[in-house]
Amino acid sequence: MKKEYIKNNKILVTGGAGFIGSNLCESLLELDNEVVCLDNFSTGKRTNIQHLFKNPKFQLLEGDIRNLNNCKNACDGVDFVLHQAALGSVPRSIEDPITTNDVNTSGFLNMLVAARDAKVKRFVYAASSSTYGDSKELPKVEDTIGKPLSPYAITKYVNELYATIFNSTYGLNTIGLRYFNVFGKRQDPNGAYAAVIPKFVMQFMKYESPVINGDGAFSRDFTFIDNVVQMNLLAISSNNPKALNQVYNVAFGARTTLNELVTLLRSKLAKFDAKIGDVNIEYGPNRIGDIPHSLASIEKAKKLLGYHPEFSFEKGLEEAVNWYWENL
Ligand SMILES: NC(=O)c1ccc[n+]([C@@H]2O[C@H](COP(=O)([O-])OP(=O)(O)OC[C@H]3O[C@@H](n4cnc5c(N)ncnc54)[C@H](O)[C@@H]3O)[C@@H](O)[C@H]2O)c1
Repeated sequence: MKKEYIKNNKILVTGGAGFIGSNLCESLLELDNEVVCLDNFSTGKRTNIQHLFKNPKFQLLEGDIRNLNNCKNACDGVDFVLHQAALGSVPRSIEDPITTNDVNTSGFLNMLVAARDAKVKRFVYAASSSTYGDSKELPKVEDTIGKPLSPYAITKYVNELYATIFNSTYGLNTIGLRYFNVFGKRQDPNGAYAAVIPKFVMQFMKYESPVINGDGAFSRDFTFIDNVVQMNLLAISSNNPKALNQVYNVAFGARTTLNELVTLLRSKLAKFDAKIGDVNIEYGPNRIGDIPHSLASIEKAKKLLGYHPEFSFEKGLEEAVNWYWENL
């Protein structure tokens, strides 16, 4: 990747105080960009961005993407938008579909309008592997999707539809990144909607048994955060016209079962504290809206954007576990 293309821009990261957003802000600042972070701290945390305030090129705008004026202020003078703000989690969307829709769909539309009016060069947004819905095809290829299995999945698919229309109608350049189960530093282990890796790490560290939904044979293409950062940087910097106005899988391109994940996590953590090696694993019922298997084809991203993921699941897990051990 030609890092000089990503220098000295003004880049808006919505949801910049969240897990993925804060990692993006950090990398963009390291590359000498001016970074604006728009966040309402609904799931994001100040501690995620505390270390960035010492950099004069970092600016926080506390605001809500459901408010069009907040979106317009944030887009003012911006070259690129990396839109991450959303309410994640399938179960949350099942419990409260209205708020999920307000943030993920109406908020998304506000951001598109604001980006269009500010004439930003490119609008890169967090899409989701949940868009594959009930499609049984493996590996998942961008063009073949099934029916959505949750309100969350609907919102993420609607994002893609709106992005396409904003390109064809208004000429806004967009790139959608369908993230597959991202993990890494600063992913929140707490709360009812915590993602599986940080949640299990925290439980092991407290000698509590993690509970797997189902028999543990479900599998995921767990994707380390650095691969996700790389894709966002490529999406901003690519000068391949064919790469624009597309959606891409963002994954490593391999799958790991839940059983393999807990076993590996336990053995990695047991190196720090042998007692963790004795913690049992429990099994519960399957969760509504969960897809059984998820594995991405990353050929499109390799071909059009030159994506080359540097972190396998296991290499990423090593980094993540070390980080949690030092920081939890
Ligand atoms: N983590 C994953 O595995 C994964 C997978 C697929 C897609 N995604 C998508 O990636 C994006 C980032 O996810 P994440 O894992 O970093 O989640 P996160 O919850 O850590 O980050 C989301 C951020 O958006 C902010 N936010 C939420 N509602 C907002 C609003 N109304 N106005 C302003 N800010 C708001 C939150 O405060 C938070 O900082 C989301 O769009 C999510 O749907 C994530």
